[in-house]
Amino acid sequence: MIKHLVAPSILACDYGNIQKEIEMINDTDADWLHVDIMDGMFVPNISFGADMLKVIKLHSKLPMDVHLMIEQPDRYIQTFRNAGADNITVHLEACTHLHKSIEIIKNAGAKAGVALNPHSPVSLLEDILENLDIVLLMSVNPGFGGQKFIYQTIDKIRKLREMILVKNLPTLIEIDGGIGLQNAESLLQAGADVLVAGSSVFKAGNPKLAVYALKNIGIKGLYA
Ligand code: DX5
Ligand code: ZN
Repeated sequence: MIKHLVAPSILACDYGNIQKEIEMINDTDADWLHVDIMDGMFVPNISFGADMLKVIKLHSKLPMDVHLMIEQPDRYIQTFRNAGADNITVHLEACTHLHKSIEIIKNAGAKAGVALNPHSPVSLLEDILENLDIVLLMSVNPGFGGQKFIYQTIDKIRKLREMILVKNLPTLIEIDGGIGLQNAESLLQAGADVLVAGSSVFKAGNPKLAVYALKNIGIKGLYA
């Protein structure tokens, strides 16, 4: 069985101790570090810029999974790549020329992802899927951590998994928003490959144990 990936989202960490928080994640079996970039336009919130990504990258041992929640993301793809992004995910809803945006990401040497807001059907990806390394399905409305998981996402995962199987693609399905032990198993059963977790890791009493538990879902008896 190929194990799923876990990507803690640094958005939920204690910013006053960000270096320690990153080092704490280094000491887990997390696979990627998820970094949310928000511009106050595409989403109502503003988070980090490229200089912050450089600092995060400096301390982290993990690949940087950069989620651009910004309008006209083409303007910043190279900047975030230079700052250390390994995966760059843009929103379908923010790209008029999505095929071109994916090309820019790949030419910059990063893995290319497309994110869908909760209302966007996976069928919109039919003609671009084979160009994508990652599809990120938002399971909350983007902009903030700590929101409630939108249950319709499960069905979207199943549909997307079917599309990927039919085309026999290596594209990863990443789910982002409201994820924790309460729903992780259902997401994996529906066909998810990557679980992003912000609050359920950083706000946990024992964040390392939270990563461990998310990573070991499906191993019987571990967290029954
Ligand atoms: C929301 C971000 C998420 C966020 C998830 O717009 O894209 O990555 O950090 O946070 P939780 O896991 O708390 O829902
Ligand atoms: Zn995100």
